[in-house]
Amino acid sequence: CGIVGYIGKRDVAPLLLEGLQRLEYRGYDSAGIAIQGKPAKGAQSAGLKIAKAKGRVRDLEAKLPKRFAGTTGIAHTRWATHGAPNDINAHPHPDADGKVAVVHNGIIDNAADLRAKLAADGVELVSDTDSEALAHLIGRSQAPTLEEKVRHALAMVEGTYGIAVLHADFPDRIVVARNGSPVVLGIGEKEMFVASDVAALVSHTRQVVTLDDGEMATLKADDYRTYTTEGSRTSTSPTTVEWEAESYDMGGHDTYMHKEIHEQVDAVDRVLRGRIDDRFSTVHLGGLNLDAREARGVRRVKILGCGSAYHTGLIGAQLIEELARIPADAEPASEFRYRNPVVDPDTLYIAVSQSGETYDTLAAVQELKRKGARVLGVVNVVGSAIARETDGGVYVHAGPEVCVVSTKCFTNTAVAFALLALHLGRIRDLSVADGKRIIAGLRKLPEQIAEVLRGEEEIKKLAAEYANAKSMMFVGRVRGYPVAREASLKLKEVSYVHAEAYPASELKHGPLALIEPEVPTVAVLPDDDLLEKNRATLEEIKARSGRILAVAHREQEKADHTIVVPRNEVELDPILMGIPLQLLAYHTALALGRDIDKPRNLAKSVTVE
Ligand code: G6P
Repeated sequence: CGIVGYIGKRDVAPLLLEGLQRLEYRGYDSAGIAIQGKPAKGAQSAGLKIAKAKGRVRDLEAKLPKRFAGTTGIAHTRWATHGAPNDINAHPHPDADGKVAVVHNGIIDNAADLRAKLAADGVELVSDTDSEALAHLIGRSQAPTLEEKVRHALAMVEGTYGIAVLHADFPDRIVVARNGSPVVLGIGEKEMFVASDVAALVSHTRQVVTLDDGEMATLKADDYRTYTTEGSRTSTSPTTVEWEAESYDMGGHDTYMHKEIHEQVDAVDRVLRGRIDDRFSTVHLGGLNLDAREARGVRRVKILGCGSAYHTGLIGAQLIEELARIPADAEPASEFRYRNPVVDPDTLYIAVSQSGETYDTLAAVQELKRKGARVLGVVNVVGSAIARETDGGVYVHAGPEVCVVSTKCFTNTAVAFALLALHLGRIRDLSVADGKRIIAGLRKLPEQIAEVLRGEEEIKKLAAEYANAKSMMFVGRVRGYPVAREASLKLKEVSYVHAEAYPASELKHGPLALIEPEVPTVAVLPDDDLLEKNRATLEEIKARSGRILAVAHREQEKADHTIVVPRNEVELDPILMGIPLQLLAYHTALALGRDIDKPRNLAKSVTVE
């Protein structure tokens, strides 16, 4: 979900709509705005006005009443958790008197209790959401200030939140609070902004203050202050956002996904820049916070992430095993945190996340920290929650990724893992010669990615051919397997074509039963020592009259089509082999007329469990 708010002199509704549009990738089931109405001369307040709509921000815009003027307001775009997406469940939520408006990201765990208590007190709850309870609790508080009312309400709440609150009796301020869901203040000239993500702020100001968990803030047009939920002041000074406002624009492409696929050439160049040390054939990772002695003491590496981030973790684990010879594996962060894992002091834990906010990953980090583990982050968003909670790490410098489906960040994260693996390897047993070889391979990546992207037209044709598949099978062996996993996820997410990924060797143990002409297979076959084994898998598929699309370093006879990608070092090949499959997913979705940047039911950052 996304939050945006403004207090200042400008007409607030257009500003908030623009902010919501920038945040739409975080949720797009429904949207809403609350503003402090313009008071008549002499009056202190005109009361709040709220407009909400199921659907996209443009649906809300179409529904806004003619007279919706004011200079203070909050807005929200939703990804439903409690209650179906409809007008009533959309935020902002008012209290019973219509004096309070609340927008909320996160989940209130004791919502059922709170709602029951409120109902017993005679409050009529109109929505099915957990968030509405907050509005009533604030509205019913007898405390004299808005800050205290919010504080009272929050004291009764268990769960996670990022909230922004308006109150008709306190028209000169917006009160915000954070616990587990991001809240960023944007500091302007006689105007203040708040948002759940800098994406909504950067076109207005690049001076931001990121709240910590347990922190609140009061925004007035010309001033802001931060304090803890207990009320003691905290000192915060604004930092400057690195990313330019333009990097959030579509830049001549029809979709962000297309733009971000094509940005990979520059993005990979950026993650490498300034980090390679040719003298020692090693890399310099300034934020790692792990000295050579500590690195030598690491006996295992465990990588945690969700979705595509988890899949880059699978590639990362292979790179670390291959280059640093440390046993390494990856696991979905959500699984890890719920299974009471053994936390071992000699294990290095690595949390991977584009946004740095995914709640399951953050919760895994917090659980590990509680148990005294050392946790590094491989994160894209600078200063995000996971970046701040980890002991150190590697920023992946992909730039802002707006499409819900991850592409450039996936690739950059895999490259960041290659750097980390090389670094750990060179501290341990990787030779200078191998270090040199990997560095040369890394340097070749941007040009080789450009070469793959030049083949887009051919991939587009293939996509048209396979788009009517009933289901698709993706297979790969060892290095090819994480590539198959990610390609299958990508296709599912963006085109809604069912897809399954399997280790090529496992095909014969079950999924082969699914193979028929309507269920084509995408096979990832790098030219490594397993090529012959992989070819045998193609034979098995062909013998069952399955169609095959191969991604390989040379034409594959058994395949119906081969996408030939340039060869790099075997360890780095998986990074390149994923790129044409991003294009395959993209063009399949395009051929099927899907909403590419905002696939149904999904959101870019899932900040709830
Ligand atoms: C969501 C997105 C996925 C993403 C995952 C992890 O589910 O839809 O595309 O891979 O979150 O996000 P993160 O920001 O932690 O990388």
